[in-house]
Amino acid sequence: MNEYFIIVGANGDIGFEILKSLNEENHNIIATYNNTKPNIKDFKFPEKIQIEKLDLSSNKSIIDFIKRVKDQKVTIKSIVIAAGKEHGGLISNTNMEDIKNIYEINVFGPFELIKGFSRIFKKNNKSSIVFISSITSKIPYIGSGIYGSSKLAFNYILKVYGKELSRRDVRINIVNPGLVKTKMLQKMDINSQEKFLESSNIKRASTTAELANLIYFLISDKSYYLQNQEIDFTAGMNFIKN
Ligand SMILES: NC(=O)c1ccc[n+]([C@@H]2O[C@H](COP(=O)([O-])OP(=O)(O)OC[C@H]3O[C@@H](n4cnc5c(N)ncnc54)[C@H](OP(=O)(O)O)[C@@H]3O)[C@@H](O)[C@H]2O)c1
Repeated sequence: MNEYFIIVGANGDIGFEILKSLNEENHNIIATYNNTKPNIKDFKFPEKIQIEKLDLSSNKSIIDFIKRVKDQKVTIKSIVIAAGKEHGGLISNTNMEDIKNIYEINVFGPFELIKGFSRIFKKNNKSSIVFISSITSKIPYIGSGIYGSSKLAFNYILKVYGKELSRRDVRINIVNPGLVKTKMLQKMDINSQEKFLESSNIKRASTTAELANLIYFLISDKSYYLQNQEIDFTAGMNFIKN
């Protein structure tokens, strides 16, 4: 079938793993990057991947991207948003420009994107949106105020938007990873990492492959009954003491 999966942030560590797993199954994919194109030369079916530039902090880039996809008149089955920007630091030391930048990339850009695509999804086609959020949206701790609040804000929007889109048979699910072995994790302070891991059942970060398995299930029709859910992918992490 001429169906396409869109992976936003397909050059990031998590997005790249999702890209790889979908490609192994020979799906049509539109893979977006912001700065560096994903390297797909060793992939099984590189010809099935269309690589597109998309900057979530730019209104023009989002609108142009939506138009390019729309003009192709293909059926979009799912969108996975695996792009995001981290931020660590005290709220009292954070200036407004930095806050706006994080919200542009983690909230406003993704919002504009899915709003644009909601009109492109074919009605009653069991389409879906999966957003990679973060468990910090549920666990407030010192250092995560701006990043965590941006993830929480978009999760809330999605939970309401998921209700609206269900009328078109488009379902939304959110995944809140805890710690995933990626370059983004290396930027988190070691002390917070240790506290998170200590509170989990499995005392290690997840691999990108473990997370990609879940995403693959969420975008398949096998998870059709799973709608409007926030799934904590944390091996049971809970609160940490600052
Ligand atoms: N790693 C973890 O432990 C962890 C835990 C919880 C949640 N998460 C979430 O998982 C998602 C993926 O993270 P990751 O670990 O794979 O990090 P990563 O390797 O740093 O990937 C981040 C991705 O976001 C993209 N991005 C950043 N700014 C963008 C912009 N302005 N427009 C479009 N794309 C942009 C990057 O593209 P460019 O490189 O091209 O800019 C890259 O593809 C993020 O939303 C993150 O918050 C990660």
